[in-house]
Amino acid sequence: MLTNALQTVRRMTCTPMCALTPEDGSRAAGQDAQQVQSALLNILDDLTAQQSSNRNVHCAVLNILEDSEADKQNLQATQRAVLNILEDFDLEKSKVASINRELQTEAQERQRAQEEIQQLNLRLEQRVTERTAELVASNHELEAFSYSVSHDLRAPLRAIDGFSQALLEDCSEGLPDEGKNDLQRIRAASQKMDRLIDGILVLSRTTRVEMRIAPVSLTNIARDIASELQKANPQRQVEIVIQPDLSVIADSILLHAVMQNLLGNAWKFTSKHTHARIEVGKNESEQGVTFFVRDDGAGFDMAYAAKLFGAFQRLHTPAEFEGTGIGLATVQRIIRRHGGRIWAEGAVEAGATFYFTLPGNTR
Ligand SMILES: Nc1ncnc2c1ncn2[C@@H]1O[C@H](COP(=O)(O)OP(=O)(O)O)[C@@H](O)[C@H]1O
Ligand SMILES: [Mg+2]
Repeated sequence: MLTNALQTVRRMTCTPMCALTPEDGSRAAGQDAQQVQSALLNILDDLTAQQSSNRNVHCAVLNILEDSEADKQNLQATQRAVLNILEDFDLEKSKVASINRELQTEAQERQRAQEEIQQLNLRLEQRVTERTAELVASNHELEAFSYSVSHDLRAPLRAIDGFSQALLEDCSEGLPDEGKNDLQRIRAASQKMDRLIDGILVLSRTTRVEMRIAPVSLTNIARDIASELQKANPQRQVEIVIQPDLSVIADSILLHAVMQNLLGNAWKFTSKHTHARIEVGKNESEQGVTFFVRDDGAGFDMAYAAKLFGAFQRLHTPAEFEGTGIGLATVQRIIRRHGGRIWAEGAVEAGATFYFTLPGNTR
């Protein structure tokens, strides 16, 4: 608009006057002066508008400058914060580096300790192997020794029993009653010792004999032994209940010895009761199968239960019940050789139950 007004002023001022008449000229000059005036007014208007817009621009520029100052301050603050963070980060970094160094040292120490443990373990294993071999050898020696001693003891023992019997039979007339009585006692003692030697031989055989593991019917073994016991003592009233489906994986000869002892004990320790009940069965649980032989006989005091399986350990006197105290020790050895466990529960005059497990007989 300012440019248009200026052009009009320029045009007005440059128009040649010579081309006009004097009246024309003064009319035209009046008109021109008006036009110039209005053009100048326009220019003034324009200038005023321009000025105010310039002021606006100025204000805007000032605002922008103010804003940029604020931004600058923000930026500086941000920069300081970033610098702080960087410093903190550096600190953390050095901390992490030192922790890392510590961890590395620890890892190295652990590695060293582990290697030492491995070495110790190796040495230990070696020593265990050597010791086991020594133990097996000395065990074999001991077994062989007890076997031959037992054998050698038997001959003189049988001689003592035999000659005592001969004396009693051949010279009974010349012997006083006291002498006869003494001879009877010599015979009884030597017979007991013979049974003990038998027990020791069986015990030592159970650890030496080679095992033949196969499926065996525990029911059949128990039935055979039960009928032998009943045949030997037909006068006794004993109800024997045997579960029909008892099968195990074991050495049948050794298992027979186990049942012979357990059922033999049940039979013996119920002998003072007019009626008795013996039960053979199994319990099944998540852990596996547990077999048992139960009776309602003399029982025993649980306080001494740990003694039951020791060789020559007896909880009853010979006057109450005869025996050598080797049966349960043999049973335990056999069960252990099979990798199983045996334990007992009982109460005086309330019977006894013997439990055992045999691996491979899990559910
Ligand atoms: N069924 C049972 N009831 C009560 N006590 C028992 C029973 N079985 C074993 N015992 C106790 O355990 C002891 C050891 O048993 P065992 O080794 O078979 O020896 P033994 O039968 O020759 O006495 C027995 O003397 C007895 O005291
Ligand atoms: Mg016995």
